[in-house]
Amino acid sequence: MAAPHSSRTEDWWRDAVIYQVYPRSFADGDGDGTGDLAGVRARLPYLAELGVDAVWFTPWYLSPLVDGGYDVADYRTIDPTFGTLAEAEKLIAEARGLGVRVIVDIVPNHVSDQHAWFRAALDAGPGSAERELFHFRPGRGEHGELPPNDWPSQFSGRTWTRVEDGEWYLHLFTPEQPDLNWAHPAVRREHEEVLRFWFERGVAGVRIDSAALLAKDPALADFEEGVDPHPYIDQDELHDIYRSWRAIADEYGGVFVGEVWLPDSERFARYLRPDELHTAFNFNFLSCPWDPDRLRRTIDDTLAEHAPVGAPATWVLCNHDVTRTVTRYGRTDTGFDFATKTYGTPTDLGLGTRRARAAALLTLALPGSVYVYQGEELGLPEAEIPLDRIQDPMHARSGGTDPGRDGCRVPLPWSAEAPWYGFGATTEPWLPQPGDWAEYAVDRQDTDPDSMLALYREALLVRRTGAGFGDGPLSWLPAPDGVLAFTRTDGLVCVVNLAATPADLPPHGELLLASGALDADGRLPSDTAVWLRS
Ligand code: NOJ
Repeated sequence: MAAPHSSRTEDWWRDAVIYQVYPRSFADGDGDGTGDLAGVRARLPYLAELGVDAVWFTPWYLSPLVDGGYDVADYRTIDPTFGTLAEAEKLIAEARGLGVRVIVDIVPNHVSDQHAWFRAALDAGPGSAERELFHFRPGRGEHGELPPNDWPSQFSGRTWTRVEDGEWYLHLFTPEQPDLNWAHPAVRREHEEVLRFWFERGVAGVRIDSAALLAKDPALADFEEGVDPHPYIDQDELHDIYRSWRAIADEYGGVFVGEVWLPDSERFARYLRPDELHTAFNFNFLSCPWDPDRLRRTIDDTLAEHAPVGAPATWVLCNHDVTRTVTRYGRTDTGFDFATKTYGTPTDLGLGTRRARAAALLTLALPGSVYVYQGEELGLPEAEIPLDRIQDPMHARSGGTDPGRDGCRVPLPWSAEAPWYGFGATTEPWLPQPGDWAEYAVDRQDTDPDSMLALYREALLVRRTGAGFGDGPLSWLPAPDGVLAFTRTDGLVCVVNLAATPADLPPHGELLLASGALDADGRLPSDTAVWLRS
């Protein structure tokens, strides 16, 4: 008899499968070429059937969409391109009715330059109270013509922009995303109210964008390589902010997942102390190459860094910022690094797909929660968008050298034969879809027992109903070189073969699921994974 799965309890987040929706590209309900909430509502049964516990929506608020919605003009309004607040409320309730919780995305580091606060700050001029909500400074140089400091941008390009009256303002991302001043009490108050606003509407959780960047060195001193602390990454003040957020979340039973990119595992784990964030994305795992030793080390490091604070790990293979999994795993360099993204890299999609199938079973068997980015369950590859159609600001800001992130943001294919693969658009979608995506369409995969979609549905079902998955211990089993084998509780065993030759399976009672066929001798082929019950 299977142990009750924590997805049905208040600890649901400790082992949940969370599906990431990029609303612009999920499904288009009104046919204008951009995905929307009507599209999502119509497809909620798809998500429920897939078997996910929650859906994380990237920002759906009022926004000029300069950075895909990560430039928020008003947190209490849904962007008209996506729908209305009333629709969002219905969506949250309907999803809950189907057993799917909703997680929203909050972007506290910056707002849009169209946000009322920033418009008022521009109008109010130097020295005003309105400007104190941001980082406005006079420039350096004889006439203030040089930026106030030399901070490197999170995107390429400058971090300061000069306004008409001669002052400069800080933006770690694009000039349309001015950074807020987190030393100001009004900034803290406003975000606490925004959290309440969404918890009151029934959301179960909040994803925190750029969570380690909010607090800045008050002196805004120049950046010096290797000098600790970094002037804007992982400042100690952040922990106080997240403690106050946690108190609010606890009132509503809400949970947080932080976007915390920090290589130092001890510093990373500080965000996950019991009175701070519940979880944070595991970017070390996301960037890890398809290599048995590297993967094993990353898994061990992840579990070791989470254990002292009692937080569950998260397992993420891709998201709306990085190269899609089947493409990454089909290349010579199977890791991920923003700095090395280019077009035209030779890719073996067959190989990448086999590996992505095996990686799905690996991640879903590890202790903790798992994120699935829309289209990952379809095995969608990264698309190469014609350069003149790219909208991601990373592309223009790099002077055209970085193709940006649009290749993983292409509207989903729902039906093979319909115009725009049934995305819903009556005009061309906001990003072009590749001409050979019919085979990836949901309706094709629906009826194919060997499809990626079938694998995900089956894996989520087995994980949800079987014992030994989710939170809990993991022990490595002896295995040949290049093979990862571990056991969980209740006799659950996961074996992943990353070696070049087939591997014998350990003795077992039942084969629960395999990412690909075993060979004629019952051995596990290369780049294939199985779940066994001993
Ligand atoms: C991280 C988000 O995932 C990314 O898409 C965005 O561009 C930056 N934060 C800035 O908000």
